[in-house]
Amino acid sequence: MSSFIKPVVASIGVASLGLVALGGLFIEQSSAPEEAQATVAPEPIEIAAAPSAAPSEILPEVEPSRPNLGFRPLTDPFGPWPLDGRKTELTFVQLSDTHVGHDKDHETFERAINVINRMNPRPAFVVISGDLTDHFSPPQIKLFKKLLAKLKVPVNIVPGNHDGMFSPTQKRRSWWSREFPEVKTPYRADHGPVTIIGVDSQLWNARNRSRDVAQVASQQWAQMEALISQARADGQRVMVLNHIPAVPTFYPARLAQSWTTPRMHAYLDMLDRHGVEAELSGHVHRDEAYVHNKTFFLTAPPISQKYTRNASLRHFRVTDQGLMYRQIYLYRHGEHLSYEFDLHGVDEANFAAWIDTMSQRELARLWSYRYAGDSMTERWFPKLDFAMFRSYLKEPFEHQPIGKVSQRFKRRRAPRGRRRGL
Ligand SMILES: [Fe+2]
Ligand SMILES: [Fe+2]
Repeated sequence: MSSFIKPVVASIGVASLGLVALGGLFIEQSSAPEEAQATVAPEPIEIAAAPSAAPSEILPEVEPSRPNLGFRPLTDPFGPWPLDGRKTELTFVQLSDTHVGHDKDHETFERAINVINRMNPRPAFVVISGDLTDHFSPPQIKLFKKLLAKLKVPVNIVPGNHDGMFSPTQKRRSWWSREFPEVKTPYRADHGPVTIIGVDSQLWNARNRSRDVAQVASQQWAQMEALISQARADGQRVMVLNHIPAVPTFYPARLAQSWTTPRMHAYLDMLDRHGVEAELSGHVHRDEAYVHNKTFFLTAPPISQKYTRNASLRHFRVTDQGLMYRQIYLYRHGEHLSYEFDLHGVDEANFAAWIDTMSQRELARLWSYRYAGDSMTERWFPKLDFAMFRSYLKEPFEHQPIGKVSQRFKRRRAPRGRRRGL
């Protein structure tokens, strides 16, 4: 069982005031820490049905000679963490793409909040990786804030492209700063041994290449690196929270904005140089995990059911030796399953080795975990291309640079239907 570490919020050094950090924004805490300890077991929620087949038939047992990344289905997503001899430093939850204002996504967001509030032990903090609202209209912002106030743990947020930032002009940036004046990216938020560095990835991904945006973007870059460097010097374990992952999509179209190849490689090098443990992102509404050298690039699926993806939250366990997480689905529909992914000891080399040894059956299962139910994926890939998928898993950073479609995929044509950005 993981131990509960009392959250330490030091982003602006006023945690002792009993306030909750919201990416630098402080809101009143609705319950005392003592109450937080007295949580009951999670209320029963509808979890995607367990498979009828035994787990070993879903993911064949990993042979001893093969790298074991600990990817396994979960029938009890709220059960104790494995007794692996590792010390749990803290747990936290990532939500992404809440898109409040779209359809009934606010209800799913509230459901996720209720689940988190009832987790025992309660997570040390929550991060939300952008697209908080669907259109950043006043009613949507108001509803988002109202729901967020129900969360009984500290939360760090960053804006997504849907948060008024499709084109992050000065005017639009002012919309964000008016609504969330204390969430000034980039920021640093400390939670025990973990530091979250929140950034506005839209500045680096927007189609708007005006001098103003370029200037603010380069300022953010320099400040981000300084914050990371200082946190590492302070002995912290650093995770960067942004919206758009620095991993090229394998879709044969540029969905919304994407990192330029030079900037992406500069970013990868910078994170590697400073020993950043993970990048936490969203945006693509899919479930992905990659590793570059020793830095994980973890893209969480959405709370929103836009594009028909099943809603889920990601529960992290930070141990004295690394990371693992559970993807926990919130509704009983579709074919998704909650699963656990153990990243202890994983690096780029053994991750690639693991992909090499996967059978088509295993690949199909992994594909299902990541993409099933997602209308965008089903539109582009009604049939799984195993060679493409294996290649992408092994070398995700080599595909789909902005401005040109990679050779491997450029002959694919868009299926009929309306193209929509995420
Ligand atoms: Fe989104
Ligand atoms: Fe997005």
